[in-house]
Amino acid sequence: MTKDRLFQGDNYHVDKFVFDQQVANCFDDMAKRSIPFYQEIHRIIGEIAQQLELNPDLPIYDLGCSTGSTIQLLHQLLNVNRSCNHHCFIGVDNSPDMLSKCQDKLAATIPSNLLQLTCDDLTSYQFPHHSQLIIMNYTLQFIPKNERKKLLTKIWQTLEPGGALILSEKIKGPSEKIENIFTTLYYDFKRRNGYTEREIERKKEALEQSLYPLTIKEQHQLLKDSGFTHYDTMFQWYNFASFVAVK
Ligand SMILES: C[S@@+](CC[C@H](N)C(=O)[O-])C[C@H]1O[C@@H](n2cnc3c(N)ncnc32)[C@H](O)[C@@H]1O
Repeated sequence: MTKDRLFQGDNYHVDKFVFDQQVANCFDDMAKRSIPFYQEIHRIIGEIAQQLELNPDLPIYDLGCSTGSTIQLLHQLLNVNRSCNHHCFIGVDNSPDMLSKCQDKLAATIPSNLLQLTCDDLTSYQFPHHSQLIIMNYTLQFIPKNERKKLLTKIWQTLEPGGALILSEKIKGPSEKIENIFTTLYYDFKRRNGYTEREIERKKEALEQSLYPLTIKEQHQLLKDSGFTHYDTMFQWYNFASFVAVK
């Protein structure tokens, strides 16, 4: 796994964080060292997926699938019984560099007839099939705020009754005081994972131009406004949260 050293030297200059080739190359290490409880969230997603008694004829979507870590894990978890129908996955991402890594990673383990990777912008993406499980981890935060309700409404329309959206996001604290505490403790987490002050500061500046977090209250309201009546925060660690919303 290529170590994330992007913001260490002076070679990588960005005003705005983008998912280009250099990010794609080290994304798996970046995600592990920058997203708290990344593995635990994946374990929870697997548990929820198993609760849903998924119909293998309906695809599972991973929106903003990046390098395919979520799809890889769910494929292992759900298809343990090789005599059963296998679940089909649709990964959507608008970064060709991320999708290329995803393709390479998943090609070895998932038969091509069970995997569809689509390079598209989620704001205009048309879901080709209904689904019982849609995952969108750390991606809605990059979608322009004024497009989020439209996207979540499309997700609601795509879900079968009883189907679930699992959404993970970086969140904003409910007040400046709480936000400051969350941020301080998050940067401590990054230090513990080997990032320097310079790396933390430079990435923060780049992300400020592309990642727009909501508070938990705003996120709940957005889910409600998009059609969901059953939703809750299922996990929170300071300024990171995961939500489950069931149709
Ligand atoms: C932080 S990563 C997601 C991480 C991934 N879901 C995981 O759990 O490992 C955000 C992803 O969303 C994609 N993305 C951002 N904006 C997008 C958009 N408008 N349409 C499609 N994909 C988008 C990026 O290319 C990137 O791969």
